[in-house]
Amino acid sequence: MAQIGIDLGGTKIEGVLLDAAGAVLARRRVPTPAGYEAIVAAVADLVGLLQVEATRPATVGVGIPGTVDAHSGRVKNANTTSLIGQPLRADLVARLGQDVRIANDANCFAVAEARAGAAQGHKLVFGIILGTGVGGGLVVDGVARTGPHGIAGEWGHSPLDDRDPEAPAAPPCYCGQRGCVETRLSGPAFERDYERLAGTARGAAEILSRVETGDRAARRALDRYLAFYGEGVARLLHILDPDAIVLGGGMSNNPYLPTLGRAAVEAVLFNARLDTPILRHALGDSAGVFGAAWLWSERVE
Ligand code: BGC
Repeated sequence: MAQIGIDLGGTKIEGVLLDAAGAVLARRRVPTPAGYEAIVAAVADLVGLLQVEATRPATVGVGIPGTVDAHSGRVKNANTTSLIGQPLRADLVARLGQDVRIANDANCFAVAEARAGAAQGHKLVFGIILGTGVGGGLVVDGVARTGPHGIAGEWGHSPLDDRDPEAPAAPPCYCGQRGCVETRLSGPAFERDYERLAGTARGAAEILSRVETGDRAARRALDRYLAFYGEGVARLLHILDPDAIVLGGGMSNNPYLPTLGRAAVEAVLFNARLDTPILRHALGDSAGVFGAAWLWSERVE
């Protein structure tokens, strides 16, 4: 049976249509609108568009920031905060007239990359999303571990120390804490830090492109970002020591991560050498669409 997978991100919604053999028939991307009703409508429209391209009815799986609470059936832990507390699955089912499976976006991403992407062949894979939000998925032998609260791998919501003595108070996080990994390593976090240092707002890609051109604030924001990255990833390694880490989300395209980022991890690691492969996504920075599509075919979690 054909399968549709949706990755619901903070800035864009991506969808893929797979044929029964798993080959990509279509891949589409639309901007994420503001407000819950508009998001439900945008997801349903994207599914509708992909259904038209499928010759037969297709199953629908959706990866979301946060997860659906097993007790209430409502979304929790989503950085797209308009989703929190909403009966998203029920609303999509009503709108589409067919059943829908939902899982955490980072889990979908990690499963996709572990089974068919950059981390293929590794037993314990940790998939990291560095996007509008920061999340993670823990995959063992191709299957995501979700845990009793559905929060396994939620790497983005523990605070990180800021070792810079001149740094301002840790930024607040939507989750209620301050200085979470997400407030340091998301795209908006990087842009905010640059704006604080430069007094001018710029997009993450532009900031990164200015690092080599003598923009001191860009260099400083990058150095701070890499220090947080090093500390955050090292903490992960100390707990899990996975066989591979794979990076997705817009900030995973930061060209300094494989070199300076890796060195920043090694500098604080509880080991003399860092052997863990830290891989860039192979199925696109929205690889989660595949894990979402597969929610109907095999055991994904
Ligand atoms: C959410 C995670 C999600 C991540 C990336 C975080 O804020 O809590 O569930 O995986 O953002 O979207």
